[in-house]
Amino acid sequence: MCGIVAYVGRKLAQPVLIEGLKRLEYRGYDSAGVAVIDQSGSLHVRRAVGRISVLENAVATTQPLPGAHVGMAHTRWATHGAPTEVNAHPHTDNTGRIALVHNGIIENYAALKQLLSDKGHTFSSQTDTEVLAVLIGDLYADLKTRNHLAPGTSLLQRAVQAALHQVEGTYGIAVVCREEPDTLVVARKGSPLIIGVGDEEYVVASDASAIVEHTTQVIYLNDNEMAVLRPGSFRTTTIDDIAISPVVQQLENKLEEYELGGYEHYMLKEIFEQPLALSNCLRGRAEQREGRIVLGGLSDHARDLVRARRFILTGQGTAWHAGLVGDYLMEDLAKVVTECTYASEFRYRNPIVEEGTVVVAISQSGETADTLAALREAKEKGAMALGVVNVVGSTIARETDGGIYLHAGPEIGVASTKAFTCQCAVLTMLSLFIGRRKFMSQAQTHELIDGLCAIPEQMRQVLKQSELIRDIASEFIDRENWLFLGRGYHYPIALEGALKLKEISYIHAEGMPAAEMKHGPIALINEGMPVVFVATKGVQYEKVISNIEEVRARGGRVIAVATEGDSHIHRYSDHVIEIPPAAEPLQPLLSVVPLQLLAYHAAVLRGCNVDKPRNLAKSVTVE
Ligand code: F6R
Repeated sequence: MCGIVAYVGRKLAQPVLIEGLKRLEYRGYDSAGVAVIDQSGSLHVRRAVGRISVLENAVATTQPLPGAHVGMAHTRWATHGAPTEVNAHPHTDNTGRIALVHNGIIENYAALKQLLSDKGHTFSSQTDTEVLAVLIGDLYADLKTRNHLAPGTSLLQRAVQAALHQVEGTYGIAVVCREEPDTLVVARKGSPLIIGVGDEEYVVASDASAIVEHTTQVIYLNDNEMAVLRPGSFRTTTIDDIAISPVVQQLENKLEEYELGGYEHYMLKEIFEQPLALSNCLRGRAEQREGRIVLGGLSDHARDLVRARRFILTGQGTAWHAGLVGDYLMEDLAKVVTECTYASEFRYRNPIVEEGTVVVAISQSGETADTLAALREAKEKGAMALGVVNVVGSTIARETDGGIYLHAGPEIGVASTKAFTCQCAVLTMLSLFIGRRKFMSQAQTHELIDGLCAIPEQMRQVLKQSELIRDIASEFIDRENWLFLGRGYHYPIALEGALKLKEISYIHAEGMPAAEMKHGPIALINEGMPVVFVATKGVQYEKVISNIEEVRARGGRVIAVATEGDSHIHRYSDHVIEIPPAAEPLQPLLSVVPLQLLAYHAAVLRGCNVDKPRNLAKSVTVE
């Protein structure tokens, strides 16, 4: 999850870049770097392993850099080469003329490196990015010797274009050249890049969080597009140099939404934001008065959706879990054949996509590579493509035929929480939208919409049990194996509870359908093992009670998420966390909340770094 920030304008670039990097910290990184060009045309590059504060201290020693109004910075998460200073970005060419930051992967970097080595170029890092920097430098030198470009044309732009034609893979890049000290060139293919348009200044970043404090006017670059930015002027083209008219859009999120706002961690903030996020998600869509669902992003497709023969819901991780909930909802409410599949599997298995298939890509970021590739594969085979996406203007959002934004606000915490509940809410609305046009009665639709609109308030009740849930977590904090079980709508919630726990607190946890336990996994249950059951009132309640008894017979300790007022369940459980009563299709929106809190408290009690877990920030603790 590397991050890019770049700046060109009237301000001193370095402080803008360092602040921007801090905004990207949540994405995880192991090293960082910054490059600026000062007014004498000198290129200053500083890189450091570990936290941004290490880099900040390093650049403080070189202040001030008069006239350094152009530059770029990067947070790196090692892919090619270890997390060392020499592998950190920015990378330069052999002459020290060009500097480059890059997100993505240059797949043919080995072949390019060989070609460049044969021409006498040398490399100091193990990265694919340095190869691209050297390639641009080589082409720049070549163009310079036979320069017959029209006055005002950027040689740097030409060199970048020529280099990108030789590159296979994905990139979001920012490039500067000390011989063009007022120019910043950026380009993208498969890795997001957003241009913030300010007052005679541009802030480019891989993520809107680094832009929003400067401007809310943005241009989203598409694949194979680039921009040449100078203070007060910019030009956007394809990498084949065809001019394009950029669309300047308004960012919908505010700066406060990116702040901790008094919470200890983003994850906790976002868990507690869920009632508000859900209200925003439902607003104007779940029409209680008329008992109907209004989905503006699908209004042109209603007919096709009702006639669709098959839905494929796809995503990764937590988004895939939301898809599983959606699978139950679509079959139950919309009565249409639905399957939920991992995007990473779908994209490679040459799937059968018949006429009348609708693929729904579910993604918080809208940038997950496998989900995007699955979407493209389905489109290629003729499917209608819908998106259930949080980040407005993201690649998935732009490549779908229609969709429903989550409106959950920025999700900074690495563990997805409010995006999950909003994804489930959106899929509920989609099911009702289709179901009502097919078999659902007005009364049934109305009842479920009333229930859906009551969820934010019911969630607030669940959140009040945070302390109780922390006490439960503390009792089991030394246990290294947990099981999460549920049936029907709660099977995906069991998977999600287990994922949250392992991701944030590094406890081994398995989630599965409760009935599956006796087909093998029951062998794992021993004295004192915590087993979390989602055991709310519903059609399979009695069956879940039987599963609880099987666990207790083997000495397992039962933590039950149960329906408020269910006194019966206390007889079978060591701990009970109550959720308010709701119609079964709506229960996942409530039953997941205690499991999010359980994972959060377990992680904090175990001293884990909740907002920068291991999976994203391997050596970020280096000071
Ligand atoms: C888990 C988590 C991940 C994401 C997954 C997909 O807490 O956050 O499993 O859900 O990486 O990401 P998006 O939704 O951005 O496509």
